[in-house]
Amino acid sequence: MPVSKPKPDDTPAGLSPQKRAALVKRLLDWYDANRRRLPWRALPGETPDPYRVWLSEIMLQQTTVATVGPYFHNFLKRWPTMKALAAAPVEEVMSAWAGLGYYSRARNLHACAKVVAGEHGGKLPADEDALRKLPGIGPYTAAAVAAIAFDKRAAPVDGNIERVLARLFALKDPLPGVKPELRAIAETLAPAKRSGDFAQAMMDLGATICTPKSPACGNCPWSSDCAGRAQGIAASLPARDAKAARPLRRGAAFVIVSDDDAILLRRRPPKGLLGGMHEPPMSPWERDFPEAPLDHAPLKAKYRKLPGLVRHGFTHFELELQVYRADGIAAVKANGTGEWAPLNALGDFALPSVMRKVIDHALTERDAGPLFRR
Ligand code: ADE
Repeated sequence: MPVSKPKPDDTPAGLSPQKRAALVKRLLDWYDANRRRLPWRALPGETPDPYRVWLSEIMLQQTTVATVGPYFHNFLKRWPTMKALAAAPVEEVMSAWAGLGYYSRARNLHACAKVVAGEHGGKLPADEDALRKLPGIGPYTAAAVAAIAFDKRAAPVDGNIERVLARLFALKDPLPGVKPELRAIAETLAPAKRSGDFAQAMMDLGATICTPKSPACGNCPWSSDCAGRAQGIAASLPARDAKAARPLRRGAAFVIVSDDDAILLRRRPPKGLLGGMHEPPMSPWERDFPEAPLDHAPLKAKYRKLPGLVRHGFTHFELELQVYRADGIAAVKANGTGEWAPLNALGDFALPSVMRKVIDHALTERDAGPLFRR
């Protein structure tokens, strides 16, 4: 929801207009001296490019600034404008995204580019409500783009900002229940002028000073305002509800190498986890490893079970895969079970991180395990 104009009595957590103004000024002064230089960020006096801002915000969801950098540069080089991205085949966008995770974001990114190119003349709307109607743009991204790209008064609240505000106001109730209160504070704090800088300043403060462990309170522009610090509890905030343990799933994967140095890949179903991405053939993922793993192999061959396992953490479960490898397979044998991906062109395939791990494990594993025959 767009942020409405603050009313004089609109003061969550005892935030008077004077205190609000003082907090905003201290943080913006700090930002002017300490802002991070980031590839998508306009320099002081420059007008931000909404396409870059939007692209970076989608990429940065659940991913770090360091990981995003090379992907951001590659996307901009290949698709410098919203219209160029909209005109790209979705498979190419998915391949370029591979490794960033949460692949529905890439599909939505492309869908959003198409809507913006088709219905908005290639220009993102500046209004938070209009942004939220676009594919892949939720409340956080709409507020971030409205504030950073268009300097609209808006209050994006991500994990960093939640931490900063929970400490500043010593909110002891755990996440996620305390979110509405954090949001109300963020909306009250958001200034009408330099709203984008203010949002980015809170992101930078959370990333560089008000870090999850050992915050550098001595360097914080808000240290004398910080109730968490005054009470000696800043580093322990925000509290969180105990996490349910993630279940474990297991399966067997088959890395099949042809006599002309390609590996067999198939495409996952279009909907669901890693939808539409490539993978080596594998068994379903279940509570335990399959009792007869080679029943799941796509073709007859001599398979070596490789020592070790590939482990990968998804949001809702952990995965362990045993990896089987077969070599020197005549390419004609694929026979509708998938497509051959040349080893020297794997980058052209949309391979999520877990599948790259499987392939790396198989290709770097020299220690021959027991030989199986299907
Ligand atoms: N994390 C998410 N969005 C960001 C941004 N615009 N700048 C820095 N860190 C971020």
